[in-house]
Amino acid sequence: MSIGDEGVSSHKLQAHKISETLISEAEVQKRVAEIGAQINTDYPNPEEPLLLVGVLKGASIFLTDLVRHITRPVEFDFVALSSYGAATESSGEVRVLKDLDAAVNGKHVIIVEDIIDTGLTLRFSYLIENLLGRRAKSVKVCVLLDKPSRRRVEVPIEYRGFEIEDKFVVGYGMDYGELYRNLRYIGVVELLDS
Ligand code: IMP
Ligand code: MG
Repeated sequence: MSIGDEGVSSHKLQAHKISETLISEAEVQKRVAEIGAQINTDYPNPEEPLLLVGVLKGASIFLTDLVRHITRPVEFDFVALSSYGAATESSGEVRVLKDLDAAVNGKHVIIVEDIIDTGLTLRFSYLIENLLGRRAKSVKVCVLLDKPSRRRVEVPIEYRGFEIEDKFVVGYGMDYGELYRNLRYIGVVELLDS
């Protein structure tokens, strides 16, 4: 996909352009392979079930690439979480819109997220607590991108692809107004005056 210098102005989105490639396709792929290798090392016993839980929709592409670097038996599933708004932020509630189909009991679980920004979504969905409550054997978090400067609540991260600055990024699953999830690289969105 190429976006001209004049930018894109469609639907209800503010005029914008992808101003910069932050992480190239090759860099993303190399790092995803490294994380897969690390998971292989960390979960060496094929008798112990491993379940990857992706958070829709942003983590879908990362998860499906990641599982292809895992060489031991692995299951994967997805959850959908509501995003927090002003109201949910104060009530500290993020709803689970789509629950797991897979059983969790006795399994090692790795939650896979595209990006951790404020940390509020993961924290206030109580996803980690929920999985432990369903007797997961362990629960870890794997995130492609970490924006630590934006963090408002602490989230324990076991696997981290890249630490990035406070920029709004798209691609490799991540969107701006539902667009650009299909980009093979990670780009920065710049809003244009209109
Ligand atoms: P948090 O609750 O602030 O940690 O953000 C959680 C979710 O917001 C992420 O999983 C993404 O879906 C979305 N998000 C945060 N930052 C960005 C970004 O820079 N680009 C696209 N989506 C983002
Ligand atoms: Mg997400």
